[in-house]
Amino acid sequence: MSDSFSAVKVTDRVYWVGAIDWELRDFHGYSVQRGSTYNAYLVLAEKIALIDTVKAPFFDQMLARIASVVDPAKVAYVIANHAEMDHSGALPQVIERLKPEKVIASNAGVKALADHFHLGQGITGVKDGETLSLGNAALSFVAAPMLHWPESMLTYLAEDRLLFSNDAFGMHLASSKRFADEIPEWILDYEASRYFANILLPYSALVTKLLDKVAKLGIAIDIIAPSHGPIWRPFRTPRVPSAPLRAGLQGPRGADPGWIASRYATWAAGPPTEKAVIVYDTMWHSTELMAHAIAEGVAAGGATASVMPLRGSHRSDVAQEMLGAGALLVGSPTLNNGMLPAVADVLTYLKGLKPRVGLGAAFGSYGWSGEAQAQMEEVLRAMNVELIREPLKVRYVPDQAALAECFALGQQVADRLKSQTAPAGS
Ligand code: FEO
Repeated sequence: MSDSFSAVKVTDRVYWVGAIDWELRDFHGYSVQRGSTYNAYLVLAEKIALIDTVKAPFFDQMLARIASVVDPAKVAYVIANHAEMDHSGALPQVIERLKPEKVIASNAGVKALADHFHLGQGITGVKDGETLSLGNAALSFVAAPMLHWPESMLTYLAEDRLLFSNDAFGMHLASSKRFADEIPEWILDYEASRYFANILLPYSALVTKLLDKVAKLGIAIDIIAPSHGPIWRPFRTPRVPSAPLRAGLQGPRGADPGWIASRYATWAAGPPTEKAVIVYDTMWHSTELMAHAIAEGVAAGGATASVMPLRGSHRSDVAQEMLGAGALLVGSPTLNNGMLPAVADVLTYLKGLKPRVGLGAAFGSYGWSGEAQAQMEEVLRAMNVELIREPLKVRYVPDQAALAECFALGQQVADRLKSQTAPAGS
């Protein structure tokens, strides 16, 4: 590949050598609106290590970036923190072309990579806490199961106080900027929360555990280098606040490691807010009218309503909106003895993501059989949502009395939320 693709210096010995995917718009069902990056890093120690690779079609781009700072044949070790193919896809090409001395993964990663690429016995397994000497530097491995797959691990470079955090602390954001402090904070907040909600939410308890584990390890972290999106480095006061990661929880300082760690702690374990998300699809506007009346009731009760018509909201938008929400109200009319397809889609998606939402209800219009609301209620029950009332069903078109009942449901939700949650937007 041409000389157009260069490595980006992160520290004196670490370079970003990944790939920018400007085209990506779907990541296994998650709508990524700004593309992504597959971050690979080169550690230029006596023994040169490549941390992760890229999605297979981007091998040439990664190779060109490596070649911009070092002869690729000098890469001695490849660390495969994660077997998912956005990071491991180029591994077979790396092995074939660069012929590294060792490819290293967690013990579970060895098996996962073998099952992906059928590479034989060529990968070395490492345990949690194990260290690999690079001569004048060393890499330590931290197991991070389910962040985002069972075999995931993080790699720590003590000499640079740098954590290669794999999927954790990442975001899907293609940018010409490599560092978080070069990107507007509202974009970071939006894309990082979207990524957390759509990728890591089911593993929230493990995120909390990881933050505690890193804090207990007592390792100082100046830089977090994730596998997607920008790199988090000290902001405004470079290299001064070289405190453990958990210290960042004392308060955000800007787009630095403490800022993203603080966000993660809140998203993973923070109390639900007084926001109610109202998700619906509609056939002849009846369920839509009901949704609007419920939202009015929520607002009149002093809580916050977020109304998400599925004709304009992707399942990923709903997942993001659910982050921290205290209530979920789902509406659909009955179509052919079931709920509308868009509602079934979003409920299937949300059920898998396991949002920590306490309260909910199903609502919608129907003509003669009216099965949709009970079906939606069944999914809410499976999500451990406390149903605040039986399904609210209206035959054909809501009249004033029906809309008043919707309004009352909204008020009831608001009352419960306000009694047990934090203000929305926190
Ligand atoms: Fe970015 Fe789980 O892969």
